Amino acid sequence: MTKLALMPHTLTVSPGEYLVTSDLSATLETYLGSCVGVALYDDRAGVGGLLHILLPEAGDEQARAAPAKYARSGIPLLIQEMEAASGKKDRFKGWIAGGAEMLPNRPNIANLDIGPRNVRAACQIMEAQGIPILGQEVGGNLGRRLCLRMDRGVAEFASSANMRRHVKKEATAPSRPDKRDLIKSIKGLPSFSHMATRLFGRIEDETVAFAELKEEIYKDQSLTANILKLCNSAYFGLPHQVTTLSHALILLGMNNLKKIILTALIKPVYSQNANIYFLKKGDLFRHALGCALTMEMLARLKGYVNPEEAFVAGLLHDVGKVILGECALEQFERIMRKIIEEGKDAARAEEEVFGYNHARVGAWVAEAWRLPPLLKDVILCHHQPSEATVDPMMVSLVHVADAICNMLGLGCGTGLANQIAPGAMSFIHLQVKEVEDTISALPEIIKKVEDMF
Ligand SMILES: [Fe+2]
Ligand SMILES: [Fe+2]
Repeated sequence: MTKLALMPHTLTVSPGEYLVTSDLSATLETYLGSCVGVALYDDRAGVGGLLHILLPEAGDEQARAAPAKYARSGIPLLIQEMEAASGKKDRFKGWIAGGAEMLPNRPNIANLDIGPRNVRAACQIMEAQGIPILGQEVGGNLGRRLCLRMDRGVAEFASSANMRRHVKKEATAPSRPDKRDLIKSIKGLPSFSHMATRLFGRIEDETVAFAELKEEIYKDQSLTANILKLCNSAYFGLPHQVTTLSHALILLGMNNLKKIILTALIKPVYSQNANIYFLKKGDLFRHALGCALTMEMLARLKGYVNPEEAFVAGLLHDVGKVILGECALEQFERIMRKIIEEGKDAARAEEEVFGYNHARVGAWVAEAWRLPPLLKDVILCHHQPSEATVDPMMVSLVHVADAICNMLGLGCGTGLANQIAPGAMSFIHLQVKEVEDTISALPEIIKKVEDMF
């Protein structure tokens, strides 16, 4: 958290954090799913602040540890910090955005209406504090971006619904790529070496010849450097600097080392020019990593036998989007229109435009990379977990982990319309409280991991 930032550019507020600044050349932004963003501005003092809350409230201990995560503690904290930067509460004006619903029209799991509960709590607190809300864009089922323009003292909202001006109608529909075009594009992905394929296939297999892997890794200097950087990151909190892969293996164990190697190998794949759904460069990887970490947490929570395998499933679930972003970008205007104008979810809209969706394309990637049947099943069914055939528990876990990342606005841009499928929560015996605890715990974990790259 930063009190006063003097950087002349866009500053992004992460989930569960806030930023206060008097730098008039800055723009503060945050991305929201079911989370709520609160922007405050004081014209006279030229002070503005932006807060990204995850949940309405928490117990005393949790709220004391990370007050900005919760509406009840976060909004008073934002006000206090704005006043410390010479703002005056009676001059503050406010805006709120976010609070998307993940389970619309499913009253049987009504307590998972985290989005609407966040909105209600934020509005109540703003009213109790006497701060007028000049604008709000809340609810629905789309992700949003809220940004505070310090030079103009106003907040702006962006969701796919109000980005329709960017979604122009083409005179004739562009030809859609067929499977052969896509397979060609899969072959053109950054070298995803046979080493990764072997690791994906044998994540649970301790007999992978480490010496042989080490040889291969050392041939690629930037991969070696990335792997060692990941090993030395705050996430693992090792007491000593790791300088060799053998040392890393001793300190972290084979399963952790495999996860690190796979993460380093998949990053360039997700860093392709995948400008779909108004995503920024890096968003696909951020989402994949967020989902991998959420998977690991949920898998441990639910006693799933192999949390490392769960991590890999989360990491790979959206790999099909890379290919669609590569060779079908111009079609996304039509997909966005279906999402905006017809209220379709993203996977269904893709299906109607292409005849297949990113999950199906991801399964073709899985075949090309010779991934094991479990991972192909996860990739193919992550939006329809009831169709899973190999490991329905794992697929439902990925489906829910994906939704939790969307709720936090993690690498989802502003255009995704995904909800939790009926039955997925009960299939993995996941309680609403457990979802809330996972949401609360994720920002620190993701931050530690993001610092690695
Ligand atoms: Fe997906
Ligand atoms: Fe996803």
